[in-house]
Amino acid sequence: MRRETTPDQVSSTDLYRLLTNLVIPRPIAWVSTINDQGQTNLAPHSFFTVASANPPIVQFTSVGRKDTLRNIEQNGQFTICFATRHHFETINASATEFEAGRSEFTELGIAAEPSMRVAPPRVADSPAALECELERVVEVGDSFLVLGRVVQAAVSENVHNDQQRPDAQLLNPLARLGGSQWGTLGDILSIRRISLEQWNAGLPDTD
Ligand SMILES: Cc1cc2nc3c(=O)[nH]c(=O)nc-3n(C[C@H](O)[C@H](O)[C@H](O)COP(=O)(O)O)c2cc1C
Repeated sequence: MRRETTPDQVSSTDLYRLLTNLVIPRPIAWVSTINDQGQTNLAPHSFFTVASANPPIVQFTSVGRKDTLRNIEQNGQFTICFATRHHFETINASATEFEAGRSEFTELGIAAEPSMRVAPPRVADSPAALECELERVVEVGDSFLVLGRVVQAAVSENVHNDQQRPDAQLLNPLARLGGSQWGTLGDILSIRRISLEQWNAGLPDTD
């Protein structure tokens, strides 16, 4: 027995809750921007993923018009910092709806460091940052999909594994679940992809 929902028969709040409780876990983009007066802004966005591998384009969604979106529309730049377990309370506090121009960096005492290719700064103690130039904003329903081309990636030496790649355990990312729930990494499973040749030979190699 399943509980069925037909979107036009429920409220938008119920729909939002349904989607955000189902589409989990979501990574968190901590989006840093600046306004025309050079004031910084920092806000978490969990509607976040990779949009294109080549060229490297990432996307996040602003549900409605917010300072982050307005700043990006003004100057076309943003930096996405990655949230780790130890940023839990700080990230949550940075979602407080401060008035435009009141910087979360200042309010929360978050140390900033300059980005290399864009004006919005990085969060100094975030292990990884993607510096982005706006590709385009796509209006989707009540939301705005922000696509940004990655022009610089800065990843701390400390979170690289032996293969010189960012390591999941070392990154220790936070994820957003439904409601007020958040998550951390659980078990990490590892498995090889099965080639068509292996599959056709009936010998899937899964070690
Ligand atoms: C973990 C987390 C994830 C969030 N994800 C989003 C999101 O994907 N899109 C969005 O519009 N707001 C999201 N929010 C709410 C915004 O962060 C919040 O509205 C914030 O005040 C916007 O800041 P701004 O006006 O400075 O841009 C999220 C909040 C939290 C705590």
